[in-house]
Order: sequence, then C-alpha cells, then structure tokens
Amino acid sequence: MKNKKIRIAVSGANGRMGKIIIKEIFKIKNIILSILITKKKIKNIQYKNKNYKIKKCTSLKNQEKNFDVIIDFSEKKNTIKNIKYCVKNKKNIIIGTTGFNDEEEKFIKLSSKKICIVKSSNFSNGINLIYFILKKIIKKLKDKKIKIKEEHHKNKKDSPSGTSIEFAKIINKKLRKKFCKNEILKSKNINFISKRKGNIIGNHSIIFSDKNEIFKISHKAKNRSIFAIGAIQSAIWCFKKKFGLFSMKNIINKK
Ligand SMILES: NC(=O)c1ccc[n+]([C@@H]2O[C@H](COP(=O)([O-])OP(=O)(O)OC[C@H]3O[C@@H](n4cnc5c(N)ncnc54)[C@H](OP(=O)(O)O)[C@@H]3O)[C@@H](O)[C@H]2O)c1
Repeated sequence: MKNKKIRIAVSGANGRMGKIIIKEIFKIKNIILSILITKKKIKNIQYKNKNYKIKKCTSLKNQEKNFDVIIDFSEKKNTIKNIKYCVKNKKNIIIGTTGFNDEEEKFIKLSSKKICIVKSSNFSNGINLIYFILKKIIKKLKDKKIKIKEEHHKNKKDSPSGTSIEFAKIINKKLRKKFCKNEILKSKNINFISKRKGNIIGNHSIIFSDKNEIFKISHKAKNRSIFAIGAIQSAIWCFKKKFGLFSMKNIINKK
C-alpha cells in the first residue's frame, strides 16, 4: 500500500477536456490512467503508450476493482449516473461537469456524506483566486451595478457558465441574498451576459459600475491544461479521503 500508484478512471475521455486530462496524467509520476470511459465504443485514443494496460469502456459497470478515483468531465446525466455508482462502490469522484440544477446539486451534496466528492465549476487556480478575492471585497461594492460576462466556444451546453453561477452565488451569499441557481437566475440583481462563439476556451469578467466608475475583474483561460491539472491534483488529494464535499479551493489551500 505504501507506494501504491493511484489508478484514475476518466469519464468523457473522448471530449475536449478528457483528451487533455489523459495527456496531463501521463506527465505525473505515481498515478496511472486505468480506465477510459466514452459514450460510444472507441478503438483508438492516441496516447504515448505506457507499460501498463488501459481499459476502454462505455460504462463503469463491473470496473470497481480497476480504479481508485474517477475524474468526470462529461455530461450531467452521465455524471449523476457515475455518482450513484461511486456511492454504491465506495469510490471517490472529481466532478468537472457543469450545468447541474438545484435538485441535482442537492443530490451531489447528499452523496458526499458517503464518499469524497471534489466538485468545481472551474479547476483553474486563477478563477479560484477570484472566488477568494470576491468574498473579501464584495461588501464594499454592494451599491454598484453588477454584471457577469462570459464567453465560451460554440459547443458549450450550459449557459450562463458554471463559473458565472458560482460568482453570483458567492456575491449573493455575502450580501445575504437568495443564492440557489434558480433564484439567482430569476432575481435581477446581477446581469448575466453569455456569448458562444468560435473556439474560446473560457473568458470571464465581473464588472461593478456606478455613475462615477467601472471596476472589473477578469480571467482568460489560455488553454485547457489549467483545468485538467487542477482536476488531477484533486484526484490525488482526495484518494484517501473517506467522505465530504470539497472544491478546488480546498486543494489550493493545501499547497
Ligand atoms: N470544471 C472545469 O474546470 C471545467 C472546464 C472545462 C469544461 N468543463 C465542463 O466539463 C464538461 C465537458 O466539457 P468538454 O468541453 O470536454 O465537452 P465535450 O468536448 O462535449 O466532452 C464531453 C464528452 O463527454 C462524453 N459523454 C457524454 N455522455 C457520456 C457517457 N454516458 N459516457 C461517457 N462519456 C460521455 C461526450 O461523448 P460524445 O462526444 O460521444 O457525445 C464527450 O466526448 C462540460 O460540462 C463543461 O462545462 C468544466
């Protein structure tokens, strides 16, 4: 057990994020890519081979002996299915998938009483630092108009992005306003602007304004490795944890 390598399963392995996660796993010692889970059966995923076998499958069924932690960046229905599997088989899960509704969020919270879940709408260091900064400054900016602007590639399914919703939750929680997703989207105290075009990986801004000034916090993802690295660090971090719901901020605080 002392030098046991952590075996990681990747769900959504054929997606934009999945492919980068695979590439980044190969760069790290002491972890093994053990299973690739894709929606359709695949023959070839290109990777520089290692001297161990990597399983390819379309579901986690009967795979419980073959992995320790799963990293899931796929689609929410599939992620919920994987959480149920993980609860049943006592496996920990890293959730990168976004777009969950309030009921699904509750289910995730409940599941984390049985297993360890690390869930972040954004696994980059920069965005998690903005979460931290926001908490510190929001009360001083409460009288300003608030706009949350985001741009992503044309294939992104959820809108506004999970990161925008997280910004709004942090702002509303600090101002003691309603903060579940449904209420946030209905109440008009924050103006959301979402654009979908080209291949944009992820641009986010929070803009505070009044008649005298404009104050802006921005983040631009230059590549997807920032999310993949955060998710892998989370998988290593949660390997021995028993249960609980955590986010990338817990991992950053450990550094
Ligand atoms: N938290 C973060 O830091 C972060 C960063 C980037 C993206 N994301 C989120 O991560 C998710 C994936 O993003 P992406 O850009 O990689 O999307 P993507 O390119 O569409 O990849 C999603 C992959 O999941 C696969 N999939 C769907 N159902 C599946 C199933 N039942 N079993 C296995 N695989 C299944 C899809 O297969 P098909 O292609 O066959 O449909 C696709 O390959 C999205 O929710 C996105 O918002 C989060």
